[in-house]
Amino acid sequence: MTTIRAETPADHAAIAEVNRLAFGREAEARLVEAIRASPGFIPALSLVAERDGDVVGHALFSQIAIRTAAGAEVPALALAPVAVLPAYQRQGIGSALIRSGLDRARALGHRIVVVIGHPDYYPRFGFRPARAQGLEAPFPVADPVFLALALTPGALDGVRGTVIYPEAFAGV
Ligand SMILES: CC(C)(COP(=O)(O)OP(=O)(O)OC[C@H]1O[C@@H](n2cnc3c(N)ncnc32)[C@H](O)[C@@H]1OP(=O)(O)O)[C@@H](O)C(=O)NCCC(=O)NCCS
Repeated sequence: MTTIRAETPADHAAIAEVNRLAFGREAEARLVEAIRASPGFIPALSLVAERDGDVVGHALFSQIAIRTAAGAEVPALALAPVAVLPAYQRQGIGSALIRSGLDRARALGHRIVVVIGHPDYYPRFGFRPARAQGLEAPFPVADPVFLALALTPGALDGVRGTVIYPEAFAGV
């Protein structure tokens, strides 16, 4: 059975290892640590998937903002990274992490989630191309991988602006 729960300090090393092995590099493990040390970290939205007591997957939603032309900042979440240990991929664990995270984020009152990721994967959770919904990225990114989701109906209506990634994301 797979259990999805919020991380605790005892999970930090396992989360780093899951990210390292899923991505085959250090960048995402470091990103998690940088976000955890930043003001945008939301402990309740750093989720681990546990199988038989072992952490086999991780998904992190953290606070970002969308800056409008008028200079206002609309709060949003970034979903990054999502990682499942290679031996456990394609068993629904990534989906369970993302669905649980979206439900928890909605319950906490968050309204918008942005992800840069596989265009064949995220639409199943309701993500749609972000530019078509009025959002711009602060760096060059192809339309199909730059995705956004309204957690509540209409949350993206009338929101036009650029997604601002905090300093923690520099280097990924
Ligand atoms: C992407 C990832 C988190 C998905 O987790 P998962 O537990 O394997 O996903 P699920 O079992 O819920 O869903 C499986 C589906 O995801 C899709 N999928 C998985 N990896 C994918 C990839 N690299 N590209 C496109 N689609 C992918 C497939 O459609 C697959 O469906 P299928 O089994 O019918 O082919 C996991 O594969 C992973 O850790 N990959 C390496 C790190 C990574 O790329 N993270 C995402 C960054 S955007």
